[in-house]
Amino acid sequence: MAKAPTKKQKQDDRQLIRIFDTTLRDGEQAPGNSMNIEEKLRVAKQLQKMNVDVIEAGFPIASEGDFEAVKLVAQQIKGPQIAGLCRAGDKDIDRAWEALKHAGDKGRIHTFIATSDIHMQYKLKMEPAKVLAAAIKAVKRAASYTPNVEFSCEDATRTRLPFLAEVVEAVIDAGATTVNIPDTVGYTIPFEYFNIITYLKEHVKNIDRAIISVHCHNDLGLSVANSIAAVQAGARQVECTINGIGERAGNCSLEEFIMALRTRHDILPFTTNVATEQLTPASRLLSNITGIGVQPNKAIVGANAFAHEAGIHQHGMMMDKSTYEIMTPESVGLSASALVLGKHSGRHAFKQRLEELGHDLDDDRLNRAFERFKALADLKKEVFDEDLDAIVMEESREDVK
Ligand code: KIV
Ligand code: ZN
Repeated sequence: MAKAPTKKQKQDDRQLIRIFDTTLRDGEQAPGNSMNIEEKLRVAKQLQKMNVDVIEAGFPIASEGDFEAVKLVAQQIKGPQIAGLCRAGDKDIDRAWEALKHAGDKGRIHTFIATSDIHMQYKLKMEPAKVLAAAIKAVKRAASYTPNVEFSCEDATRTRLPFLAEVVEAVIDAGATTVNIPDTVGYTIPFEYFNIITYLKEHVKNIDRAIISVHCHNDLGLSVANSIAAVQAGARQVECTINGIGERAGNCSLEEFIMALRTRHDILPFTTNVATEQLTPASRLLSNITGIGVQPNKAIVGANAFAHEAGIHQHGMMMDKSTYEIMTPESVGLSASALVLGKHSGRHAFKQRLEELGHDLDDDRLNRAFERFKALADLKKEVFDEDLDAIVMEESREDVK
């Protein structure tokens, strides 16, 4: 009788899903979420620590600030690939590469054009044949700079399938190594998305030469479910954002998607490179920077995600945590027993708590922040996380003066 596979063998069989984080591009496009260069770099450093595969750092032609941010992230971040978005036009592509070239072979040009009838007719005012030609030309130009080219068919889920397949096949022939099939307006449902990806796998001759990516918006609250359905159909890159921030109702939430794969690995044979214990620090850091918190009942990173109030639940938890917790708080970077910080606390506890809150300070800044903390602790019985966030923000402001 054949031996049952070991845990390690089972893990090795799992397909790797690449995580493409677009917090700094699509996320930042949402009202109230814009970030300056220094803030973008801080988020990028946290994404590096979290070990995402690709960081989309911005849209270089959109503004001078965005160009500089993409360039700085490309210069400073080591490990993940760095992507920059550009429309399917020469000037956009050239500008994107100007910023991305600083990442060397880790730079990725991400170019796009809309392929749905609605967008082609009303927004682009272009015939499908012209759109197809523009897509091919854009990919060829991008590929003249780097072999790392991603192409997106904007509004793919409302595109006629034969045309979608034609565009995908043509851009792969032109040199695209990742092809993204976005649900731009958050319109699709999981079963339908599964069928779209399946259709492409069956009808695009060269599909195996590229990685299929998905990029889901959350207008119907289905972005995570849609991303999972797409992965089940064969997509191998998922685009998402910290806290699910993004245009309108947001993008697929990175932490929810990652923890769904990890928690349901019994039924989803996939894995990612993400260090899940960095999820809470990432969420906190982003909220501190943008000033936009997450709702208390938000999955994974909401204040109540691991809180149990009902008596029956508390009793169950005391017997065995698995009664009401499907993942541990530690696995997402929440310390189960939060340390109380006050005037007797030492530098070690202070540093540890800052790291849990997503603040990674160098020694000098840590020393200065610690002095501020001690001064505050003399005035208050207990120093709360919000106080620590404020101390670090103060410190960062002093730093840029
Ligand atoms: O939602 C979308 O279609 C996009 C593309 C530019 C990838 O953000
Ligand atoms: Zn988008």
